[in-house]
Amino acid sequence: MPHQTLIIINLVLLKIILAQSTNQPNILLILADDLGYNDVGYRGNNQVKTPNIDALAYNGAVLERFYTLPMCTPSRAAILTGKYPIRTGFQGLPFEGGEPGHLPENVSTLPEQLKKLGYKTHLVGKWHLGFAYRNVTPLAKGFDSHYGYYNGLINYFDHIYQSSTMTGFDFRDNFRVDRKSKGEYATDLFTNRAIKIINDHDYRKPMFLMVNHVAVHTGKVVGHQGIVEERNTTSMNKNFGYIKDVNRRRLVDALKTLDDSIGNIIKALSEKDVLDNTIIFFLSDNGGPTYGELYPNYSSNWPLRGIKISHFEGAVRGTGIFYSKNMTCRGKSNSNLMHMVDLLPTFYSAAGGNLKNLGQLDGINQLDVLMYNKKTKRKEVLINIEDVSGSAAIIRENGRYKLIQGIQYNGTYDSYGGETGRNHSDGPYDFKSVINSDVNQAFGTKLGIDSVKKLREDLRTKNCRKAKYEKSCKLCLFDLENDPCETTNLAKSKRGLTNEMIDRLDYFRSESVPQQHTKVDPKSNPKYYGGVWTFWLDKKPL
Ligand SMILES: *[C@@H]1O[C@H](CO)[C@@H](O)[C@H](O)[C@H]1NC(C)=O
Ligand SMILES: *[C@@H]1O[C@H](CO)[C@@H](O)[C@H](O)[C@H]1NC(C)=O
Ligand SMILES: *[C@@H]1O[C@H](CO)[C@@H](O)[C@H](O)[C@H]1NC(C)=O
Ligand SMILES: *[C@@H]1O[C@H](CO)[C@@H](O)[C@H](O)[C@H]1NC(C)=O
Ligand SMILES: *[C@@H]1O[C@H](CO)[C@@H](O)[C@H](O)[C@H]1NC(C)=O
Ligand SMILES: *[C@@H]1O[C@H](CO)[C@@H](O)[C@H](O)[C@H]1NC(C)=O
Repeated sequence: MPHQTLIIINLVLLKIILAQSTNQPNILLILADDLGYNDVGYRGNNQVKTPNIDALAYNGAVLERFYTLPMCTPSRAAILTGKYPIRTGFQGLPFEGGEPGHLPENVSTLPEQLKKLGYKTHLVGKWHLGFAYRNVTPLAKGFDSHYGYYNGLINYFDHIYQSSTMTGFDFRDNFRVDRKSKGEYATDLFTNRAIKIINDHDYRKPMFLMVNHVAVHTGKVVGHQGIVEERNTTSMNKNFGYIKDVNRRRLVDALKTLDDSIGNIIKALSEKDVLDNTIIFFLSDNGGPTYGELYPNYSSNWPLRGIKISHFEGAVRGTGIFYSKNMTCRGKSNSNLMHMVDLLPTFYSAAGGNLKNLGQLDGINQLDVLMYNKKTKRKEVLINIEDVSGSAAIIRENGRYKLIQGIQYNGTYDSYGGETGRNHSDGPYDFKSVINSDVNQAFGTKLGIDSVKKLREDLRTKNCRKAKYEKSCKLCLFDLENDPCETTNLAKSKRGLTNEMIDRLDYFRSESVPQQHTKVDPKSNPKYYGGVWTFWLDKKPL
């Protein structure tokens, strides 16, 4: 073939590739920390003020059966790998600072896969998947930039992470310890960085931006309890004085700042004129902690049973909202069964990738389910197999039945908790604030008060809690379709199904690797490194 023809063919190919790459959507993933099922206004809660999140829900799709892992480290591993944590050893309790565990070298991550398709990838906020070495941190695991912290939480202002035995500063701008950040409210810092990334990005390439907020996790330890920190006590008391429990008031205030953040980030996309080519996913890593020694009743999973860490719906029936300009079914609840592990293949597919390149995953591509409300191919969800306590849970039969095996932590987290947010004192829902919210304005939809009223009525959680329930059961079977609040144990009356589901759990058990959750390494103590949490097993830790 003559050279010129080859050059022309190459030019044509290049043009096709360029044209395709501009069609790849930007992907914005916003992850809240420990947000309770009931801590969003669109579910009927009048106590919290979340006009931007609500506007996202009314303009997008509320994922009513979007399942998470029961706690942070496993959830984050699931999102980034598309695999159930039993495959990577991440099924145990969240990492405590100084645990040397990390993602396996041979498992690729969502940002790594998106990079192969031409994306620039950014992580703002929390990591929580190990930092013993530099080469297990976000910058080595597919992110072009990272601004935030490595541990499970930081205080909102001083950015200290305090484990049960050690304490230190945990805030970086890429690998640089960012001491200047000290004193600034973390939610604001993350918002500002996300906006800067959006403004600086060269949109000839697609962008993947993951914003992992600290809100509304508890931070600072006061006495023996972690509290959520508000940005400004005066304005908190002014705006949320109707909430009696001061810790609940703090959470609701921090949640309002998170809501503002979502508004500002989406507004920035709109001002850059790239919102139409961006898909947005908002979710929480797990349910809220609503009672217990460390976090008494700050959040609410009402009316669901159980809190963070348990295997009940309050821990794992997550908050999930999807938005794309091109979706056909908006403002509705999408009750298809989904799981966090689906995000990787779904985004990969949206980015134009060929799923065959991803190898064996637990996640499935749910793009058509999200965009066009097609029927999902997912028939079951493994909730988790926690191999230390021996407790496990699985949902099968197209989402109808759930089996929970074994009692976790003496049943400490298996009860009901949290305010309804529907007391008279919680005030009326502010429909106008939703219509005027940054998110609603950015979408430019013409939602009126009447349509928002109707949308909210449809999405509102209907109470299902009964007074009586079996406190802890070694083996529970629940009919989630008719009993989403998990009050009535059917394990005895439905023996056949129960045994089938036990077999299925045993199958997953046989495939699982032991959990990585190990002892804290005292050599990680920040006191050896100028008071900073750092890569303590590297030759040059700082
Ligand atoms: C990764 O390596 C581990 C340990 O060698 C192995 O058990 C696992 O199957 C590997 N996973 C993949 C996806 O290759
Ligand atoms: C806190 O909020 C109050 C009331 O809104 C305001 O007057 C004050 O300036 C704020 N303080 C700070 C430090 O921003
Ligand atoms: C929506 O469709 C338009 C026209 O086909 C396309 O240019 C755009 O990239 C799509 N947006 C997303 C988020 O998929
Ligand atoms: C919250 O917890 C406190 C202390 O544990 C308790 O006194 C109070 O009644 C609880 N409030 C709710 C709404 O559960
Ligand atoms: C469960 O209760 C027993 C007896 O009260 C106690 O010894 C044990 O430490 C508890 N275990 C957990 C995980 O709370
Ligand atoms: C209303 O508030 C009171 C006092 O905080 C609380 O005990 C009660 O549970 C709340 N009721 C509802 C329906 O949330």
